[in-house]
Amino acid sequence: MQKSDSNNKWKKNYDKKYLKNNLKKDSVVIRKELKENIKKDKILITENDTKKQIKVQIKKIKKNNAKRRGVITGINKPGNVMELKKVNKYYTNGQIISHILKDINLEIPEGKLIVILGPSGSGKTTLLNVISGLDRSTDGDIIAINHNLSYMNDRQLTEYRRYNVGFIFQEYYLLPNLTARENVEMGSYLQKDKKKIISADSIFEKIGMTEHSKKMPSQLSGGQQQRVSIARALTKNPKILFADEPTGALDRKVGIDVLKTLQSINKDFGMTVILVTHNVKIAKLAHLVIKMKDGKIEKLIKNKTPLTVEKVNWE
Ligand SMILES: Nc1ncnc2c1ncn2[C@@H]1O[C@H](COP(=O)(O)OP(=O)(O)OP(=O)(O)O)[C@@H](O)[C@H]1O
Ligand SMILES: [Mg+2]
Repeated sequence: MQKSDSNNKWKKNYDKKYLKNNLKKDSVVIRKELKENIKKDKILITENDTKKQIKVQIKKIKKNNAKRRGVITGINKPGNVMELKKVNKYYTNGQIISHILKDINLEIPEGKLIVILGPSGSGKTTLLNVISGLDRSTDGDIIAINHNLSYMNDRQLTEYRRYNVGFIFQEYYLLPNLTARENVEMGSYLQKDKKKIISADSIFEKIGMTEHSKKMPSQLSGGQQQRVSIARALTKNPKILFADEPTGALDRKVGIDVLKTLQSINKDFGMTVILVTHNVKIAKLAHLVIKMKDGKIEKLIKNKTPLTVEKVNWE
């Protein structure tokens, strides 16, 4: 412990000195980068790292993944609901370091339907988890709804999620002993600001589920259950609705209905919907497609006039 403290101290002084020398130089880029790296405690791994250096990095990754110090408020640019700056996510497993998200820079506009697209293992869920506050990035900044998620502790992240964001997963996670309507009402209890709540009745009407509202989950089809889970996420009126492969467990026809529901929520409520999928057809519905490959953003595709669900050729 003491040894690593003195190591850190030495590194800090060394960095300061290095920074100072570089400040004298005329290299604005290096100056900026160095400053940023030191400030943000950035992880820097090279192939030539010794065992000891790797051990230090693993320690740093674990520490950063658990908690980072910094200001938890931030301000989004007008029109944006989220900005990511040089976001990285590392996992450690024994002596192995996996670099999962690599230097992600991204701006997410407000009120749009966003699709995160990519093959299995490309980092879609990892990205969704860090931008939704379910998990923490290892370094970089994630400013969402005027909060800086990177520096929030677990309790702060839980609060943040509770009031600001909604989730839909591949599995519906409905409570089996409650009716569809009661399941949705459970979602509204999470919202502290009661004025914000959208009533279960109005949502059921909107998504064509009124006649099923008194049924138990076991009496509903998969697609209907998924629509109840969407209603549950929606009722607290979150700023952003996150959906990870929401149609993954459904057959095509039912999946299309669920997508219709999500598209109309985006359109009618002006809610930002961020949807993860590996299906390129679903990406046609998006105003912005974030194409992931090997932990990086391969391409950003903007689409001023996305197709409606009816116009996509699902065959
Ligand atoms: N806790 C973890 N520890 C180590 N590696 C992990 C962990 N979670 C995910 N990974 C790895 O990160 C990579 C990206 O995983 P992720 O779940 O984000 O992919 P995905 O694009 O969502 O894939 P899929 O389409 O199959 O859901 C994978 O190689 C995965 O093995
Ligand atoms: Mg996934």
